[in-house]
Amino acid sequence: MEKIIFEYTIINNINALPVAEKQLLKAARTCTKNAYAPYSNFKVGAAAILKNGTIITGVNQENASYPTGICAERTLLSAVGNLHPKNPITILAISYQNATKTANKPISPCGICRQSLLEYSLRYGINIKVILSGQTGDIYIFNDAKCLLPLQFNSDDLKG
Ligand code: THU
Repeated sequence: MEKIIFEYTIINNINALPVAEKQLLKAARTCTKNAYAPYSNFKVGAAAILKNGTIITGVNQENASYPTGICAERTLLSAVGNLHPKNPITILAISYQNATKTANKPISPCGICRQSLLEYSLRYGINIKVILSGQTGDIYIFNDAKCLLPLQFNSDDLKG
């Protein structure tokens, strides 16, 4: 029998976060307003602090051809990979706004975004801290994005 365990922290007050992380979560919460989500009305915001301290945001971009849409997390990873190839992400915060405006509990990144985050982490040989929260309520903190994808498929699997 094998067991995979990961731990995360739950806090319920944004003021308990270090200043930079508080700023980051606020950026993720605020940027949800820029999401283009006319079909789901589910607006997701992702914000990252890079190694040099810059904060970059990404929001979901939907499309009338539904599968064409892209999640906030991958919009962000594309922007950072393109514009800041030498400044990897150190911390990532994800938030959202739903049609009913409750958004009082965290959401987790979807499976495709977890796979993208994994490749990004492995590519730079880094851990990415992940902060998940709605507009209010509990805040989940994970020390390493890789734990969100156990039994992961990665480039090693492609080798002979
Ligand atoms: N979405 C994200 O942007 N990130 C996630 O981790 C989950 C889902 C978006 C995709 C789609 O535009 C909307 O939320 C509803 O699924």
